[in-house]
Amino acid sequence: MKISEYLEPVAVATHYNGDNFVDAQTCVECHADIYKSHIETAHYNTSAIADEEHVKGVFKEGLNALNLKGVRLKMIKDGHQFFQLSKPKFGDTTVVKSELDIVIGSGVKGQSYLSWENNQLNQIQVSYFEPTNAWVNSPNFPDYAFRRPVDDNCLKCHVTFAQNENESGNGNVYNRNKLLLGIDCQRCHGPLEKHVVHHRANPNEVEGVYVDSYSDYTRQQRLDACAVCHSGLQAQQVKGNPFSFIAGDTLSKYSKNYQNYNRNLKLDVHGNQMGLLSESECFVNSKMDCITCHNPHENERGKHHSFNAKCLSCHATQDINAQVEINNHTDSQNCISCHMPLFPSNVMKLSVAGQEDEIPVYIRTHLIGVYD
Ligand code: HEC
Ligand code: HEC
Ligand code: HEC
Ligand code: HEC
Ligand code: HEC
Ligand code: HEC
Ligand code: HEC
Repeated sequence: MKISEYLEPVAVATHYNGDNFVDAQTCVECHADIYKSHIETAHYNTSAIADEEHVKGVFKEGLNALNLKGVRLKMIKDGHQFFQLSKPKFGDTTVVKSELDIVIGSGVKGQSYLSWENNQLNQIQVSYFEPTNAWVNSPNFPDYAFRRPVDDNCLKCHVTFAQNENESGNGNVYNRNKLLLGIDCQRCHGPLEKHVVHHRANPNEVEGVYVDSYSDYTRQQRLDACAVCHSGLQAQQVKGNPFSFIAGDTLSKYSKNYQNYNRNLKLDVHGNQMGLLSESECFVNSKMDCITCHNPHENERGKHHSFNAKCLSCHATQDINAQVEINNHTDSQNCISCHMPLFPSNVMKLSVAGQEDEIPVYIRTHLIGVYD
């Protein structure tokens, strides 16, 4: 797609608040730079149609099999399509063929795959684990033939919007044409058809209309806009459909145990950055929120220099050096390697074919502190 191409505003789905979503490409007309960097982010790529560009798993003969206690799995590619072949070892041993239709995960740590059966969406048995470039049994799946129905409580953190047949979001029957894959602009800014229509009709308007500004939000509202997906799987939503929360809302009105996020200190691959950060001295003693350090429109992976600058914007070099007896403490270009180290997850470990020990996933802690 060329960046110069933009779309007419056409409603592609309707949120539970009555406002319409448009295709994210519609935003290019007036916000080309943000759009261009946004499509490089893990958010934008966290779900997609399962095509050659997005499926990261290996299909080469010899690397494409997974042998579990109760089932043999084989991954094959046929033209532009990808399939899982599942042959149970006991009971009915007929081979079941499932197409990989949707990819979940940009592939930083790994990917899971969803398959349509009519309008029912299921997660297939295998996932792909990036650090070992191998197929694994999906996290929390049993070791016999299994697939999991995918309801809104799975999709809510990995897509922009889904139109579930059942308004409570339970059940896995969807309107396939109203599934907005990827976490795009309107997941963080709300459905914006009115904004687009207004500004196209009023090209000289310089203030944004029918759109909120994050700078008008309270600290809690800004945190909640990220915490809705970054406070661990414990954050259950009880009010309305799982997609009904939008930026500007207050999460505690939705969630029965969000108040306890800071007690869920267990590291989890579905990371609890909110809980960990909120226990940090930096957070408690300042007004920081997630966007103090993160630019939500950019792929910042590995850009450690810019994170150092964020640390030093609050921690003056001379203050730290006066307190800390480490030579050249702040000369280091990598504050986070010592103060936000990578930790192996306690809960997220994967069995990998050919290896006896389970392999843990490494996650960068948001509990900023002094470690050995
Ligand atoms: C026809 C032009 C136009 C289109 C299309 C458009 N916008 Fe805007 N938008 C504007 C203008 C003008 C402003 C105000 C100036 C600015 O902040 O850039 C604005 C501001 C914004 C703001 C900032 C609000 C604030 O005050 O901080 C957001 C967020 C935003 N737009 C999101 C979007 C998204 C998402 C899309 C696509 C769904 C979109 N816009 C499409 C013209 C447009
Ligand atoms: C709708 C759910 C959702 C919301 C809202 C959300 N995130 Fe995320 N975020 C995710 C998911 C899912 C991933 C993992 C994406 C992947 O790699 O597939 C992620 C990944 C990230 C990453 C890692 C990026 C990388 O390159 O590995 C950062 C940083 C991040 N989010 C920060 C934020 C911040 C800051 C906000 C609020 C402005 C926010 N997120 C809002 C779901 C969300
Ligand atoms: C409460 C929000 C939430 C829910 C619900 C959720 N995830 Fe995630 N998921 C995340 C976040 C956030 C990340 C990024 C991991 C991190 O924080 O380091 C992630 C990461 C992943 C990844 C790895 C992505 C990568 O690029 O490495 C996969 C695969 C994944 N999730 C699959 C699923 C599946 C399948 C479901 C449904 C059964 C699900 N997730 C439900 C928030 C969620
Ligand atoms: C992960 C959540 C997230 C996504 C996805 C996202 N934004 Fe934003 N956006 C934010 C946050 C948070 C701010 C406030 C940033 C700040 O104040 O520093 C913001 C600010 C803005 C602004 C106003 C300030 C500025 O930076 O110019 C515009 C315009 C905007 N976004 C447009 C978009 C468009 C267009 C897209 C999609 C191409 C998009 N956003 C995707 C979270 C997001
Ligand atoms: C918004 C301002 C702000 C930012 C940004 C910030 N901090 Fe802090 N940090 C503080 C405050 C305030 C304290 C409390 C102690 C103090 O007043 O010096 C603190 C405390 C600390 C401590 C002592 C922790 C303890 O448990 O005793 C460390 C280490 C630290 N910060 C490292 C960092 C690193 C590394 C970064 C960048 C990743 C960072 N900080 C970013 C404000 C900030
Ligand atoms: C003090 C600075 C700071 C703040 C505040 C902060 N982060 Fe981060 N975050 C980082 C750094 C540094 C990394 C590591 C980036 C890298 O390794 O490329 C990171 C990484 C992440 C990742 C990827 C984790 C992984 O291991 O894959 C996610 C997700 C994330 N942040 C979400 C958030 C959310 C949500 C908030 C707010 C609750 C937040 N962050 C607040 C500095 C911060
Ligand atoms: C090689 C590891 C390492 C690196 C790199 C590092 N630190 Fe530290 N830092 C430490 C240790 C260890 C302490 C505790 C020393 C002590 O208590 O005397 C500390 C203490 C601190 C403190 C707390 C001071 C206090 O006692 O209140 C702050 C703030 C801090 N570092 C910020 C930073 C910043 C900002 C950077 C990057 C510019 C950075 N550190 C880089 C290891 C490191």
